[in-house]
Amino acid sequence: MALTREQSLVWEAMGIGPQWILRSGQDPLLSEETQTKPKAAFSSVEPAPAASVRVGPSVGTAPTASSTVVATPTRKLQTSLRPVQESPVTAAPRALKPVARVQSTAARAQVEPDPVLVEQVKTATWEGIAEIVARCEVCPMSKTRTQTVCADGTPGCPVVIVGEAPGRDEDIEGVPFVGKSGRLLTTILDAVGLKRGVDVAIVNVLKCRPLNNRDPLPEETQACRAFLDRQLELLAPRVLILMGRHAMAGLLPESAGTSIGRVRGKVHHVTIGGRSVPTVVSYHPSYLLRNPVEKEKSWHDLLQAKRLLDERS
Ligand code: URA
Repeated sequence: MALTREQSLVWEAMGIGPQWILRSGQDPLLSEETQTKPKAAFSSVEPAPAASVRVGPSVGTAPTASSTVVATPTRKLQTSLRPVQESPVTAAPRALKPVARVQSTAARAQVEPDPVLVEQVKTATWEGIAEIVARCEVCPMSKTRTQTVCADGTPGCPVVIVGEAPGRDEDIEGVPFVGKSGRLLTTILDAVGLKRGVDVAIVNVLKCRPLNNRDPLPEETQACRAFLDRQLELLAPRVLILMGRHAMAGLLPESAGTSIGRVRGKVHHVTIGGRSVPTVVSYHPSYLLRNPVEKEKSWHDLLQAKRLLDERS
């Protein structure tokens, strides 16, 4: 495929290089985190229990963040062995089985609200949120986590990125986006001139690692929601970036059933602390690791976020 000069520079800056098509086998360059994708869609694996699952901290309260466009990104396989331009795709995509089933119904039924935490988090300070989250035992994930993962960055960072959930590396280090997808995110942010921890704070929808890299369950997302709302309130971003379908579904609920591809490229708005915050939706970095050709779109999305920030500075 012929690239324009601009595309070529962007690809080079983001370490994309020539595009390779999978013929067989697993990509030795991808981490376990990404090899395990795609994640098991909850609805296709195990039906939700009809009753008895009660939600966590934000139960009964309206979310403080609300919006004014859920993606099911198609999995494409790119890996080594043969450059696109030399040959058409010859290998049929491998059948991809979910490697992990979602938690058992019994485990899910343990998601109970903790009214004490709910009340505490509503008025918590930035440091206080981390302390409350560290004590949280609302979900069974609290039994399997190494530690909770709250945020990278602090109030004062004008841009806030909302990701999905900690992976293995984040669970070990206690910081969001430090694994392979995190390194890619940092590279893309660098490419648009945004510094993590200075210009950009990062939080996740979930504060604990879902084992086996599975999708967050709806009740887990709901249970963590009060933490996310309070974090966003205190961060008071000038520009918000939602990475991946879980962040998008949580903060732009009207986007439910829509792909990231359809939602990205426009400026949306999420109300945080009574303020309408311009919001950009983009692909999750883990998706980009599996679909490197989409990195350029992601770069454009972050450029758009940077422009929005510059307009407000
Ligand atoms: N993916 C996320 O969404 N968040 C992280 O912190 C790491 C990987």
